Amino acid sequence: MTETTEVYSAHLPGFQETAFIKGHEEYQALHKRSLEDPDAFWAEQAEKYLSWQQKWEHVLEYDFPQGKISWFGGAKLNATYNCLDRHIDTIGEKTAYFWEGDDPNQSLSLTYKELYQKVNKAAAALKAKGLKKGDRVVIYMPMVPELAIAMLACARLGVIHSIVFGGFSAESLANRINDCGAKMVITADGSFRSGKTIPLKNAVDAALPNCPEVENVLVLDRCGLGLTLGENESWWHEVMADPDLPDYVEPEPMDAEDPLFILYTSGSTGKPKGVVHTHGGYLLYAAMTTRITFDLKDDEVFWCTADIGWITGHTYLVYGPLINGLTGLIFEGVPSYPGFDRFWQVVEKYQVSKFYTAPTVIRSVAKEGAAMVDKYDLSSLRLLGTVGEPINPEAWRWYYEHVGKSRCPIVDTWWQTETGGHMMTPLPGVHELKPGSCAQPFFGVDPVIIDPDTGEPARYPNQEGVLCIRKPWPGMARTVFGDHKRFIETYFSQVPGMYFTGDGAKYDEDGYFWIIGRIDDVINVSGHRLGTAEIESALVAHRDVAEAAVVGFPHPVKGQGIYAFVTLNTGVGKTDEIKKELVKMVRSEIGPVATPDVIQWADALPKTRSGKILRRMLQKIAAGDIKEMGDTTTIADPSVLEQLIKERVASTA
Ligand code: WTA
Repeated sequence: MTETTEVYSAHLPGFQETAFIKGHEEYQALHKRSLEDPDAFWAEQAEKYLSWQQKWEHVLEYDFPQGKISWFGGAKLNATYNCLDRHIDTIGEKTAYFWEGDDPNQSLSLTYKELYQKVNKAAAALKAKGLKKGDRVVIYMPMVPELAIAMLACARLGVIHSIVFGGFSAESLANRINDCGAKMVITADGSFRSGKTIPLKNAVDAALPNCPEVENVLVLDRCGLGLTLGENESWWHEVMADPDLPDYVEPEPMDAEDPLFILYTSGSTGKPKGVVHTHGGYLLYAAMTTRITFDLKDDEVFWCTADIGWITGHTYLVYGPLINGLTGLIFEGVPSYPGFDRFWQVVEKYQVSKFYTAPTVIRSVAKEGAAMVDKYDLSSLRLLGTVGEPINPEAWRWYYEHVGKSRCPIVDTWWQTETGGHMMTPLPGVHELKPGSCAQPFFGVDPVIIDPDTGEPARYPNQEGVLCIRKPWPGMARTVFGDHKRFIETYFSQVPGMYFTGDGAKYDEDGYFWIIGRIDDVINVSGHRLGTAEIESALVAHRDVAEAAVVGFPHPVKGQGIYAFVTLNTGVGKTDEIKKELVKMVRSEIGPVATPDVIQWADALPKTRSGKILRRMLQKIAAGDIKEMGDTTTIADPSVLEQLIKERVASTA
């Protein structure tokens, strides 16, 4: 396959002389050292990127079979001291954040000093509400500076934040609040999206009756909806204006291994897992990957378009840029409002140098035509990035030519919520660019392709297998909140002695990695990870549904769409009304992110004789790829399959 692969030079103007990593040789030497002597390598990085209150007793201790990983044990530091306090004397007047509203007429900026002052106030307010080290707070907010301020206020006190993306429903919110035992919820009355107001607080109101441990709710007045607050609920602006609040709160000294945050993510089975990241290793990995992958210089503006509610926003909008004292851009809106040229207008307005987004965004703007990009002056751009899903070569080329004008490298960063930061990515000035390949591992990362049949490493290039990681890296998750057994089972039991990613992948003759996609029942819709089991359980909650099977199918913009096969109870009519109810059901159980694109009625689902649903066949039907169904001998009743295929063909006829 690779002989037909296009290759773009690593040596784009401006990177050869100035890049942090100068060329492939230096990369290789450093990468080798990071694996051979991780203690020395990471101790050096830890000194370089972070300020420690107390040094570590050991650099790395680990035991994968027990899911035990410890970096910089015994060391003390605080995330916000590293993000803010230590910058005040030197770059206090520098812009920490530009903020651009959904409405193009709304914008503001915050200097490091202003951010520091606001975080201190907010920390004082949380402290006054009784929050202390180790407590959990759920944050459910729009993309406004207060979201970052709320996170940092928690981190200052050693309170563990758990952000729930605004696109999740009340039900999902309640599940997450209860799973982590949050004492407080920080939210807003609503959020603006494409000029419309979305009522966020309603979801909190619907969730809270089922969340007995929540003591306080803090509400930001974002949309002026004029809500009346209930008992134990207070307005953000009133709380922060309290004259009795001190201006300064001592940053809590945290052990390197103390949790910094919990972030929920979908797996192939059961409910979403609360992935736990730490103060020490995570912050170091966030800081280093931000600097190196994007080759960020101090005077550049960095725009990561991800919502802070996802890991990409945590690492590359908040912790990574702030630790490095960089200027970031928080954007509240969407790429299509007021027009499909919004992103490029914002790039021009803020003179963005480094731009990081998801392939789904590129596909959605590319389909509107290059004229939307061409009318802006994008000469400030020096590097582009992608994350979240494999990028198809057409989208890659469009991005490279129309946005980057064939002079900006594209870093296709492969990583996961669990990995904390980039795991594989081309580095600017180091790697040649192959559209669709995430190139080579970051420092400290030791990837291997495992043949699922033998459990042994792949023996030759282009052999597809399961991507595993052989050694720990500082940014990796430490546990699943409240369920360490699940952590071990999910990540360390499938291939003994290694971290199991759940992604299928291969490497080519040049040792470049290519991610093929999830091998488990996780689908990736517009870069959002969703478990098919979660969607199925929302569907079967409908009184008329007997059974449901959900699979992903190729979608031109979203990467993957959601395709649901639904079996109704005997005697129930297959109406469009029920389809609408099912869509509503999923939206209320999980959230709009999980809305099915297609629902196909199935009189029965294809199963093996032992009753296992044949998902691979359903995937083929969903994709419309029905000529070659593969081995159908295991199927209990072949007529079930024939019927589904017939109906699928009829639906597209
Ligand atoms: C997929 C997002 C191909 C992959 C940071 C992974 C990618 C899952 C890429 C994690 C990429 C992420 N190329 N696939 N560059 N980046 N993925 O936890 O399947 O939301 O396992 O983390 O997204 O999604 P998550």
